[in-house]
Amino acid sequence: MKVITTKSELRSSLQSSRTDRKRIGFVPTMGYLHEGHISLVKQAKLECDIVVMSIFVNPLQFGPNEDLNRYPRDFERDCELAKKAGVDYLFHPDVSEMYPSQSLTYVRVGQITEKLCGASRPGHFDGVATVVTKLFQIVQPDRAYFGLKDAQQVAVIEQMVLDLDIPVTIVPCEIVRESDGLALSSRNVFLTPEQHQQALILSKSLQMAKDKLASHLFESTDQVSQFVIQQIQTQSLAEIDYVDTLQYPSLESPNSLTDDLLIAVAVRFGSTRLIDNVLVRHNNKEC
Ligand code: PAJ
Repeated sequence: MKVITTKSELRSSLQSSRTDRKRIGFVPTMGYLHEGHISLVKQAKLECDIVVMSIFVNPLQFGPNEDLNRYPRDFERDCELAKKAGVDYLFHPDVSEMYPSQSLTYVRVGQITEKLCGASRPGHFDGVATVVTKLFQIVQPDRAYFGLKDAQQVAVIEQMVLDLDIPVTIVPCEIVRESDGLALSSRNVFLTPEQHQQALILSKSLQMAKDKLASHLFESTDQVSQFVIQQIQTQSLAEIDYVDTLQYPSLESPNSLTDDLLIAVAVRFGSTRLIDNVLVRHNNKEC
């Protein structure tokens, strides 16, 4: 595995692979790697000849009062994990390499970014869409791998790629969970054992809601969200940011319980904000 810190070196390193018509897979991350990130690499290795991973904690997607400075980092450990997973190029630029001058250009995706995390983290998805566009320009991958843990992010990137004619195939990948059900996240390290225990209500309540939907036990999508809220409120340390049930991937308000639905939650435990979701596909394959 080659570690690369500059855009120009990455471009020239990938040049020969491109000339040889090798298929380039790309896994963008902010590091502090876990099995969720590694699952994206595994999928990329199945489908591509060369796998590029980026590790860049992107300041543009953090709000002024968010956890940019506290975001967990351990580059040495990440290197070992990426190498073991079979990453070929690990791109690890610093902030001045990615943003050498004050940026005057942003990428903003409309509508889909107004709900869920877009509503509670203003500007977040502008930061994500901008950095991912820049990374796509630098790497020029054939396929790029994103986790459905961030289902709204997947919808935003897919829309952006469509609208801007970016020649890359977006591959959404399943959520990886701990054996107790908690969705893997770099931020889980901040949870105390008690918070971790209480946070299991997220995956439990979402799965219960999905099962109840399948058994036709709800009359409206509002009831779905209300059910999840009631479950989460049984945990004393949980502070709900949002719980919502929306059409996926448009994130519009659902017309009926038979739409393709995303049930998504964001909940704080102390200063740690966790997100989780389930997709209920009626018109496509089950997720
Ligand atoms: P980060 O939070 O590091 O996540 C990188 C990728 O790993 C994302 O596609 C995310 O959805 C995926 N991922 C995280 N946890 C996962 C899990 N438990 N199961 C499956 N996939 C999981 O998302 C970002 O970074 C950034 O916004 C980024 C796209 C890199 C832009 O800065």
